[in-house]
Amino acid sequence: MPYAFTLDDVAYLASPTGRDAVDGAAAFVRTDRLRAVSTLRARLGDRAAPVLETALLRERVRGRVPDGWLLTAEAAEQATAAPVAAHRAARLAGRDVHDVTCSVGAELDALRGTAARLVGSDLDPVRLAMARVNVPGVALVRADALAPVTRDTVLVADPGRRTASGRRTWRPGDFTPPLDALASGAGMAQPGGHAGVQRQESPHDLVVSTAPGLDPATAPWAAEVELVSLDGRVREAALWSAGLATTRRRATVLSSRAAPWTVTDDEDEHCPVAPVGEWIVDPDGAVVRAGLVRQYGARHGLWRLDEHLAYLSGDERPPGVRAFRVLDHGRYGERTLRRTLAARGVGRVEILVRGLDVDPNALRPRLRLRGDAEATVVLARLATGPEAFVCEAVGDGVPADL
Ligand SMILES: C[S@@+](CC[C@H](N)C(=O)[O-])C[C@H]1O[C@@H](n2cnc3c(N)ncnc32)[C@H](O)[C@@H]1O
Repeated sequence: MPYAFTLDDVAYLASPTGRDAVDGAAAFVRTDRLRAVSTLRARLGDRAAPVLETALLRERVRGRVPDGWLLTAEAAEQATAAPVAAHRAARLAGRDVHDVTCSVGAELDALRGTAARLVGSDLDPVRLAMARVNVPGVALVRADALAPVTRDTVLVADPGRRTASGRRTWRPGDFTPPLDALASGAGMAQPGGHAGVQRQESPHDLVVSTAPGLDPATAPWAAEVELVSLDGRVREAALWSAGLATTRRRATVLSSRAAPWTVTDDEDEHCPVAPVGEWIVDPDGAVVRAGLVRQYGARHGLWRLDEHLAYLSGDERPPGVRAFRVLDHGRYGERTLRRTLAARGVGRVEILVRGLDVDPNALRPRLRLRGDAEATVVLARLATGPEAFVCEAVGDGVPADL
């Protein structure tokens, strides 16, 4: 069970004595974790538990959350990744913003650099007290996100996406607070209901960070759905109300190594189906989930390998993406593939599968790989039948397990 911080703990941890105690514990935790517990108990008595938990949490989130922050285990896990928060904050530059589920302040930290005026609120008094330490100078108030306490602000909300039993949920009714209630509180018209039961004035602009698998039909007030990925992992579907939307569907691809880019449904979607060229491109998950594979393909002069698959092909690799140079291809059969890989001396393969019932981990040992070469094998069900492409992966990115 994670340690349950109290307001008294937060006051202590924020004091000069508490800060020194955590710094001392941090050094211990890195060298001798077991002895740290007994030594800190002897030195600090009841204060040992919050001090140790803070030192351990900081160690766990190093690089993800600013150094020196106060956190709870759950708040650390829920904190919006800094590049995602920075991207949202940039879209809200110059606006008056109210983060209605601010927790310990990860989004506030990004927003305070861009918003004209900024307020944070949360129901949890301990998280709010931590936010006061983490983002000093930001106006913070304990308030229910369902009854916003500011006027004429953009509301930013990031509801918890776990059920009471701790399981991840994609269902908007299970978010904390639930998505419909958040939208109603902001004054958005709800299907079969009326706008903003709690509010009589004009609706707020609203942006809600939700689970990537959310069905946008469950949020009809959302004029724009933005799928956001970071370093190849889809992090969220952000729902933007009409006053903030600039398109209907957008994929935003963020990277800690390269410049961000986006693609939207306003772009040309002419992306025909044609036989494979020199390259196979597996578009970023944000592009796939946003339903923008055609637009992305059209932008880079690519074509689709099949009507129903997200794989694209082309004679040039789009800039900044990991793609697969096709070395060999033909109808997929295990024996043929084994022979092709043996002839190329391939000892390690990354196997990507679309539209075929093939388990890469079960297939790999059956290929009896031997040799020094590496390859990426793309297996796909095309209109013409199952096809195997033996490729060389080029570019930065996260490979599937070799
Ligand atoms: C996923 S966390 C938000 C994380 C935050 N965006 C960050 O980057 O640190 C959700 C927060 O919503 C708060 N919360 C849940 N229900 C609420 C409500 N009805 N009103 C205000 N805050 C609420 C929780 O206490 C929690 O801190």
